Amino acid sequence: MSVPCKVLITAATGNVGPHAAAYLLEAGVSVRALVLRDDPQIGKLPEGVEIVYGDLADPDSLDAALDGIKGVFWMWPFFTLSTATAPAVLEKIEKRALRIALVSSVGVHIGLERSDNNCHAYLEELIEKTRLEWTFLRTTGFMANALGFASQIRGDTGVVRFPYGAAARTSVHEGDLAAVGVRSLISEGHAGKKYLVTGPEVLTQEEQVRIIGEVIGREPRWEDVHAQAAREQMVLSGWPPSYADGALDYFAMLTKEPEVMSDVVREVTGKPARTFREWAREHADSFR
Ligand SMILES: NC(=O)c1ccc[n+]([C@@H]2O[C@H](COP(=O)([O-])OP(=O)(O)OC[C@H]3O[C@@H](n4cnc5c(N)ncnc54)[C@H](OP(=O)(O)O)[C@@H]3O)[C@@H](O)[C@H]2O)c1
Repeated sequence: MSVPCKVLITAATGNVGPHAAAYLLEAGVSVRALVLRDDPQIGKLPEGVEIVYGDLADPDSLDAALDGIKGVFWMWPFFTLSTATAPAVLEKIEKRALRIALVSSVGVHIGLERSDNNCHAYLEELIEKTRLEWTFLRTTGFMANALGFASQIRGDTGVVRFPYGAAARTSVHEGDLAAVGVRSLISEGHAGKKYLVTGPEVLTQEEQVRIIGEVIGREPRWEDVHAQAAREQMVLSGWPPSYADGALDYFAMLTKEPEVMSDVVREVTGKPARTFREWAREHADSFR
């Protein structure tokens, strides 16, 4: 199949979409971003992206967004939307597009996610039944998740209170994940691949916070809190309870055994995966 000349990005104004849009434009591919509403987040998208409004909860609202599309960079906003409409959305995609790259999760790679849940494994199963050329990006946690500690790091005490500081992560730079997805959409040889996409190093959550401190010239301190207390906070701040439980159980597991790591970013993009320190330098202002 030739390179898709127009690619639709869903959940486009999240952490990954703006990077994916920039890489696609750089490669000379037209980019359309599916946007739910008129929102300042749209400003995160690079100049040259066509904005089309649509709601993944309402498949019929997506016709304009999908018109003329050949590739889809598919992300599902699991935090705020059930997958009830995903089959109908995918049916519409299949009628128009040739290729799809799905942002999935390491949870599928290690067998923690079951497809009967509202989760990435379910979307993978749906896509495998289509005629689309597909690539799954089974990613570890985003480096951007550390932004969740920003207000505590900026605070007077600089104490970060969260469970499992010793959880050893291989967090990925969102831009690297986007770059792998874009390569899989615009070049040959990625159909049917289930890529484990990770960062280049193992760092505990506490070490990530220490690196942020080194970058901004402060000494934030990690303080482990009980998982149950954190769970309550997570749910209050909008986490679906089952996701909070899954994340906390996973972090507990990572205190005993480090997260899996791969060299997929380098293999697919030809560039080394970016380190957490590079990410922290890019986002230093958020922590000051
Ligand atoms: N964070 C991690 O560590 C991690 C790890 C593994 C996998 N993932 C996966 O990575 C993917 C991307 O994550 P992300 O953080 O970049 O984005 P996200 O937070 O999952 O999605 C946010 C985006 O989805 C849009 N959105 C929400 N409801 C919508 C609807 N009904 N119709 C259309 N758009 C809607 C939002 O638009 P508005 O701003 O207008 O609401 C926003 O642009 C997700 O599928 C996530 O599950 C994340």
